[in-house]
Amino acid sequence: MTTTRQRTALVTGAGRGLGRDIAALLADRGYQVTVTDLDAETAAAAAAEIGRGATSAVVDVRDHAQVEQARDTLVAESGGIDVWVNNAGVLLTGSAWDQSAEQRKLHLDVNTLGTINGSVAAIDAMRGVSPGSRGGGGHIINIASLAGISAVPGEAVYAASKHAVMGFSSSTTADLRLAGVTDIDISCICPDGIWTPMLYDKLEDPRAALSFSGVLLQPSDVVRAVGKVLDKPRPVTAIPAWRGAISRLGAAFPRLGAAAMPLMEKQGRRAQKKLLRTNGPTRR
Ligand SMILES: NC(=O)c1ccc[n+]([C@@H]2O[C@H](COP(=O)([O-])OP(=O)(O)OC[C@H]3O[C@@H](n4cnc5c(N)ncnc54)[C@H](O)[C@@H]3O)[C@@H](O)[C@H]2O)c1
Repeated sequence: MTTTRQRTALVTGAGRGLGRDIAALLADRGYQVTVTDLDAETAAAAAAEIGRGATSAVVDVRDHAQVEQARDTLVAESGGIDVWVNNAGVLLTGSAWDQSAEQRKLHLDVNTLGTINGSVAAIDAMRGVSPGSRGGGGHIINIASLAGISAVPGEAVYAASKHAVMGFSSSTTADLRLAGVTDIDISCICPDGIWTPMLYDKLEDPRAALSFSGVLLQPSDVVRAVGKVLDKPRPVTAIPAWRGAISRLGAAFPRLGAAAMPLMEKQGRRAQKKLLRTNGPTRR
């Protein structure tokens, strides 16, 4: 379907960190962007910084009514949604039995249910089913993690929430194709640890060691990968690719994966200590 309207995008959890930078990339690419976050102030500040007509909205991804409201507002203003990025996420470290029931629930509510809420809201607009929408297809980008592919000791419930994102995304893509919908794509991005506020307070946390055991990415590394996926949708993109291959190997051979964990944990602790000694990469 040809469209004369400006292309639009909505990013969740975009008040800071990776989401803000993805929203900026989308504005660079000419999209009219809605920056959403739980935190009104950071969402508004990010939208103002991005400029080029970016707007902000408070959206708690756990609440499907808020998610649908943000979708309907964007559709009413612009006629449709071309790209929807489910980026909002939380990470609390610790083994499952050390976490409270509320902490465990928070991971699943934000990381998993939030992604499902966003994806379903976007699909309804992209299929022309939601109020005022005209369909026309689109692209959903789900920010998962390498923790969505393999085991992550110290981050078990987080890993569970991200594995669920992967299962949901591939299954929903299959459902779309079986329903004859070929113009909606779902791409999952699975980064290694990224130096964002999510990890700023975790250099002294041994339970977060696995997040530091490989390549500590900068948000710009992940934004570059999102740019490639925007050009060509791809079901799964691991960053870096070699860590994705190791994660897949560990998942395919769980005993081998489990045997490698003490080594990876040690490697992560070394990296954390080195970053502490050198005051860590630049924070922004
Ligand atoms: N930082 C990493 O090491 C890393 C690695 C792999 C994947 N990821 C994923 O990348 C995504 C972005 O994380 P980040 O590193 O920028 O973290 P971050 O903590 O800097 O940003 C997360 C954002 O999500 C928002 N948020 C939290 N709960 C929310 C809710 N209920 N509704 C709406 N927004 C909410 C926060 O306000 C914040 O702005 C997350 O999904 C995260 O799991 C991060």
